[in-house]
Amino acid sequence: MSILIKDLKYTYMPKTPFEKTAIHDISLEIQKGEFVAVIGHTGSGKSTLLQHLNGLLLPTEGEVFIDGEKITKKNLSEIRRKVGFVFQYPEHQLFEDTVYKDIAFALKRFKLSDEEIDAKVRKAANTVGLDEALFESSVFDLSGGEKRRVAICGVLVSDPSYLLLDEPASGLDGKGRRDMLALLKKLNSEGVTIVLISHSMDDVAEVADRIILINEGTVALDGTPGEVFSKEELLASMSLDVPEVTKLFNDFSKRSGIPLPTVTTALQGREIIRMLINEGRLVL
Ligand SMILES: Nc1ncnc2c1ncn2[C@@H]1O[C@H](COP(=O)(O)OP(=O)(O)OP(=O)(O)O)[C@@H](O)[C@H]1O
Ligand SMILES: [Mg+2]
Repeated sequence: MSILIKDLKYTYMPKTPFEKTAIHDISLEIQKGEFVAVIGHTGSGKSTLLQHLNGLLLPTEGEVFIDGEKITKKNLSEIRRKVGFVFQYPEHQLFEDTVYKDIAFALKRFKLSDEEIDAKVRKAANTVGLDEALFESSVFDLSGGEKRRVAICGVLVSDPSYLLLDEPASGLDGKGRRDMLALLKKLNSEGVTIVLISHSMDDVAEVADRIILINEGTVALDGTPGEVFSKEELLASMSLDVPEVTKLFNDFSKRSGIPLPTVTTALQGREIIRMLINEGRLVL
């Protein structure tokens, strides 16, 4: 069970003066259960890549397989039931006049009774922590964080195995971001495979098991947060940062002369400090 991308190439507006090859040659596999973050500078091809994983775009060359089945024009509705997509701007996928109708929209294509639909809507709302008191509100009266919850909820009602999100935390305040990341972690722990695009290195270090760095339409790095964020110079050459905690511990290692592994989360940092104190190598 996986998402398999083979020799993917994608060109926007081919054979016109605006022709632009956004994906050059990408092959990779995402196993069921993974939490993957896709990073890269603006225009590197992240959104183009993600849109291939549920058939919003079809390859110019190459193939994409979901659980062994190749995505084609003919099986898009079946693929999209398995692979949910949450757009960067929730306004792009919310259009019904109430929150309830918006969440229930994707269920119209199944032959379900009103009771079955109601049970699925309430279950999904409960999963994302959306207050049922908002069901009859207009989506346009909601806060940014609530809109995003409704958008995610509208995808979760179909019980997707894979959830793709294009910058789901952008524009949210600190609490909104933390809540969003906690929700994605929870969904992942319940078995949903997550592929997330983010510009925040601190966020991806916190939640992802694997980071794929895209540069000019190809995969530049693919590894754990520790592996990817150990390449500070390469990232800087692509105008990308490392997490704040990584910078802090790199600086500490340089100044103290104590060699340290790449630290990518505050939790790891705390453990290293505790270990150094216990070993008597750091005296406060
Ligand atoms: N609809 C389109 N028509 C033509 N070119 C496009 C279109 N969408 C994207 N591109 C071009 O393809 C390249 C990759 O774009 P893409 O949106 O995938 O990048 P991205 O990594 O998601 O960027 P960002 O971080 O800004 O969202 C860019 O050069 C972009 O200008
Ligand atoms: Mg994008």
